[in-house]
Amino acid sequence: MSSDILTRAGSIGSATLRNRMIRAGTSESMAEPDSGVMTEPLLALYEQLAANRVGGIITGHLYAHPRGRYARGQTGIHDDEMLPGLSELTGRVHRHSGIIFAQLAHAGSQSRVPGNDPLAPSPVPNPLTGNDMEEASEAEIEEAITAFAAAARRAVAAGFDGVHIHGANGYLITEFTSPVTNRRDDGWGGSAEKRDEFPLAVVRAVREAVPAGFPVTMKMGMVDAVDGGLAIEESVRRAGVLVGAGLDAVEVSCGLMQAPTDSANTYVAVGPRRAATDMLVHRLASKPRPEAYFRPWAQALRAQVDTTVILVGGMRTTQTMAEVLESGDADFVAMARPLIREPDLVAQIEDGREGQVDCTSCNLCLIHEGHHPLQCWRTPKVRLLQHAAYRLSGGFRRAEVIPTKH
Ligand SMILES: Cc1cc2nc3c(=O)[nH]c(=O)nc-3n(C[C@H](O)[C@H](O)[C@H](O)COP(=O)(O)O)c2cc1C
Ligand code: SF4
Repeated sequence: MSSDILTRAGSIGSATLRNRMIRAGTSESMAEPDSGVMTEPLLALYEQLAANRVGGIITGHLYAHPRGRYARGQTGIHDDEMLPGLSELTGRVHRHSGIIFAQLAHAGSQSRVPGNDPLAPSPVPNPLTGNDMEEASEAEIEEAITAFAAAARRAVAAGFDGVHIHGANGYLITEFTSPVTNRRDDGWGGSAEKRDEFPLAVVRAVREAVPAGFPVTMKMGMVDAVDGGLAIEESVRRAGVLVGAGLDAVEVSCGLMQAPTDSANTYVAVGPRRAATDMLVHRLASKPRPEAYFRPWAQALRAQVDTTVILVGGMRTTQTMAEVLESGDADFVAMARPLIREPDLVAQIEDGREGQVDCTSCNLCLIHEGHHPLQCWRTPKVRLLQHAAYRLSGGFRRAEVIPTKH
């Protein structure tokens, strides 16, 4: 199949993207560790993506409130002091005619910052961090909603082209939408419709905080990876409600996770030969995961809700990416890991590259989240040795982050 469709311009609300390839939100662990302020290496990372013609860039999750901070080194959008760095970021991307959306996030009970006071709808411990939680008060819920709105206002002031609300992957919004983590029996929970209320309040508050026509999108956790969790029917109905409240696009992902690999599947489309050349010993003992693994949820969304659909998760060949778009299942494809390993991938595809991307979804980059700046740990090969040395020396246990249970 020809890849031409990948290089056609497309729109998200009032934003025009030069092609259909989006850089999915990818946390960088590269901001000033304590303050969340932008750094020069972070600016350079984004400038490189923009210079390499990525159609639309979604930032790594930016914490909208200190209690919603995921890890040290995460970039903040919680305070006006972040504005100079964020403005410099949009300036660097716009210099290359790029489009950049700010991903607004609150990590909820998934915060890995030691000593933080995380927030959750109900007293349900987080399976990934082990954080024990208390039920959020009415005032705390209102404070979180206000923080999303204030973050959106800052994104506009900093020159972003849109905001992307993080409503997936076990963070606060998914904790309100899941029956497993939302055990409330008040206006915020107790039925599927009441579980709409928190994301709805966030979307409305963000919409009010930005100028008319400013693009507002959401990454939605459509299905939980836990027993008794959120199911696709409820999410598709909810997506319709949120689009009605002003979302311009929905990126399809998973909700509550048992492990980070529920969102970032391992060894996507990696055959034995590819596993051997990338020294993926573990892959030889397990099966590769299929490409475009969230596609059935995009199809369910497409069938019922009239909105722009972004599909993330396991885009590994230009053929699959083009076929997803040709079929109408999605309007854009988004990639995280392939652009860590090959920041110039989109430029290569625009220039005619076809076939499989280099990333083998080994997830070393994910394991090092919060420990080291974002990078591919398989190339150059010396990085594999650095990874082994860190692991063997107990680095993951020593570090100042609450370890994610894999
Ligand atoms: C190192 C790393 C960091 C991530 N950080 C974020 C993030 O900040 N926000 C987000 O929405 N998703 C984040 N994700 C999930 C990705 O956006 C994406 O949904 C997932 O990796 C599947 O897409 P892929 O197969 O293209 O990597 C992250 C994934 C990785 C590997
Ligand atoms: S470490 Fe490199 S090859 Fe492994 S998932 Fe991350 S980007 Fe892909």
